Amino acid sequence: TNKPTALIILFGATGDLAKRKLFPSIYRLFQKKNIEKFAVIGVARRPLTNAEFQENVKDSVQTFADSHENVDDFVSHFSYHSHDVSSSESYIELKNIADKLDEQYDLNGNRIFYLAMAPEFFGTIAEQVKAQGLTDTTGYKRLVIEKPFGTSFESAQELNVQIRTAFSEDEIYRIDHYLGKEMVQNIEVIRFANAMFEPLWNNQYISNIQVTSSETLGVEERGRYYETSGALRDMVQNHLMQMVALLAMEPPIKLTDEEIRSEKARAFRSLRPMKKEDVEAFFVRGQYDEGTVSNSLLPAYRNEPSVDSESNTETYVAGKLLIDNFRWAGVPFYIRTGKRMDVKSTKIVVQFKDIPMNLYYSKEPEENVHPNLLVIHIQPEEGITLLLNAKKNGNQMQTKPVRLSFSNTSIDRMNTPEAYEKLLFDSMRGDATNFTHWDEVALSWKFVDIISEVWEHTKDETFPNYVAGSAGPKCADNLLEKDGHFWWPIE
Ligand code: BG6
Repeated sequence: TNKPTALIILFGATGDLAKRKLFPSIYRLFQKKNIEKFAVIGVARRPLTNAEFQENVKDSVQTFADSHENVDDFVSHFSYHSHDVSSSESYIELKNIADKLDEQYDLNGNRIFYLAMAPEFFGTIAEQVKAQGLTDTTGYKRLVIEKPFGTSFESAQELNVQIRTAFSEDEIYRIDHYLGKEMVQNIEVIRFANAMFEPLWNNQYISNIQVTSSETLGVEERGRYYETSGALRDMVQNHLMQMVALLAMEPPIKLTDEEIRSEKARAFRSLRPMKKEDVEAFFVRGQYDEGTVSNSLLPAYRNEPSVDSESNTETYVAGKLLIDNFRWAGVPFYIRTGKRMDVKSTKIVVQFKDIPMNLYYSKEPEENVHPNLLVIHIQPEEGITLLLNAKKNGNQMQTKPVRLSFSNTSIDRMNTPEAYEKLLFDSMRGDATNFTHWDEVALSWKFVDIISEVWEHTKDETFPNYVAGSAGPKCADNLLEKDGHFWWPIE
């Protein structure tokens, strides 16, 4: 059988991500029989027996997965190790458990070290698993690592050096969960599998591209982390820039992780670097104020738990990226993301240029020729909309926009894997396509660092500048108006 086999050593096993995403994802892989020979060691500080841990896993599956068959069989693959991150003894105990399970489940020595916990321990863990012989195994060893991968180029590089002492670049799987989303993976297919798009996908025919990821949630319980991150580091450096790279990259010569990731890195290399003096013209920020949503008053960011009452942290970012290469010179890529917005939605709008001569000009705006738009709906709806012009019924040659829509939701949801499920499966199969390579991480941090340096040193006196539950700050509209563009409404 070519089903992957692995021992997953999951650090952070009592955390939120494990409960909400990882256990249900492993369960779905098991349930679909994508994996058969596997075992999981949950690792965390808290003392728990195997039975108690299995009970937690069962709870998580029953709460977050959509079926619960064979759940007892499933949880029997789980063990627990109460861990002290800095004690070598504790790693030796972990190694003994790992060796035993390896034999019991016939796992060929394949090991995945999954770090779903506070990043300050990533380096220590990588060094210790090597020092105590956990990575001395007959099968493969892989490191799956959650964000944040550093908070700047410098800190990311430091972390990278630490993990590279135990794992080589091709053994490191850096998670960006947006790359596991079905419609993010679809960007490449829409572009390169359609004769209707590929030839038009350049500065001759595209006016601008808009990438929006808006959330209705506020900062929730994550104030402490978010104060050091803000929307720029939390969303832009990773998720938004990854989507831009997929939209901008050249066609890969093969569908291998190496080829695709090197094309993405090239797209990042073509990004026009920010200069401190340009930040104000290219990037704007926002912070949410209190606001009433369905009759309840939501607090301002500055009144959220663990947030400074005069915080200068941005909860909203909009910006313009320019890609200085033959394909894209002159085409702005606009991005925006914010918390506490009016809708939860991630979308990409590709606006095509106006046709050279408009014969159907009308004074009524709705009868006029509309720019062609390709909208890629990433979430919550998954699909594609194409906006075209057609003749309005009647005697005059007037036009009206028509929409061609494809919705991915008609597909049976049960069989549509979730982001984490796909990423876990890929890491077990050794396919790193949808994980970020160090080159991409390094380049995107370098781009973002200039902006954060400027923002950290200039207090935004307009904060808070948008109401919770609204469409974001006015400055984001001005950013496009200066170029004669506007944000296409999210609907
Ligand atoms: C995470 C951020 O990476 O992405 C969160 O840390 C954010 O702040 C989340 O809420 C958004 O993910 P999604 O899949 O809900 O769009």
